[in-house]
Amino acid sequence: MAAPLVFAHRGSSAALPEHTLAAYLRALDEGADGLECDVRLTRDGHLVCVHDRRLDRTSNGRGRVSAHTLAELEQLDFGSWHGVETDDPVDPDRTRLLTLDRLLSAVRAAGRDIQVLIETKHPSRYGGDVERRLAALLREHDLPDGQVGITVMSFSPLSVRRVRELMPDLPTALLLQVLPPRLPLRKLPFGARIAGPGIGLIRARPQLVPLLQKGGHPVYAWTVNERDDLDLALRHGVDGIITDRPRFVLDQLGR
Ligand code: G3P
Ligand code: CA
Repeated sequence: MAAPLVFAHRGSSAALPEHTLAAYLRALDEGADGLECDVRLTRDGHLVCVHDRRLDRTSNGRGRVSAHTLAELEQLDFGSWHGVETDDPVDPDRTRLLTLDRLLSAVRAAGRDIQVLIETKHPSRYGGDVERRLAALLREHDLPDGQVGITVMSFSPLSVRRVRELMPDLPTALLLQVLPPRLPLRKLPFGARIAGPGIGLIRARPQLVPLLQKGGHPVYAWTVNERDDLDLALRHGVDGIITDRPRFVLDQLGR
């Protein structure tokens, strides 16, 4: 069985503030095969790398990401909550907001094979704007190419469908926290190629991984940070491991 790919969840986010450029560059240095990134739209239509709907947990801002312009968000400190000083003159990338545009440029500049998993968050609120902006940005960057692979992931089947309509050749992944009743595991809806179950779901449904794989769906498990979860994921033969601790997982895999 091939070793699973290792994806850095929000960057090397146990070590550095999630979704900052520093966290992603650390993950690349650590040897991760790929990066995972959540995207949201700003008020003026830019895709930014932020997980939560609100700014409060990971920055010194308040309120919804979508209520702010990019220029406003760029004034905020996205590092101190994680113990990184705001006015670090050495490495401002540790505390700044990251746009998807900038992340894609950094990935390109790394000059090696990298898989980027881009997750659309609550896209139903934006009537397709997230997916349209994403398609435009990928076109601007000429991605995917021979080195940089792109997969768009979502918990939302609607978002997967929109991505398939806009970019039929781009791989998509359907994320699963629970199993919706009547979900056909041998053929995921809307042409989703990859399945992304949470590790808790894999634990609860031992037949899940083989069923999905029999249907031709590679399985990427999230978020695998501890030894017992990693053992479980490996026992089930998953194809990808999404982790906040890429170096830890790579060490355990002997890579
Ligand atoms: O990689 C999938 C995983 O990121 C989904 O959960 O909440 O961390 O975005 P969340
Ligand atoms: Ca995510």
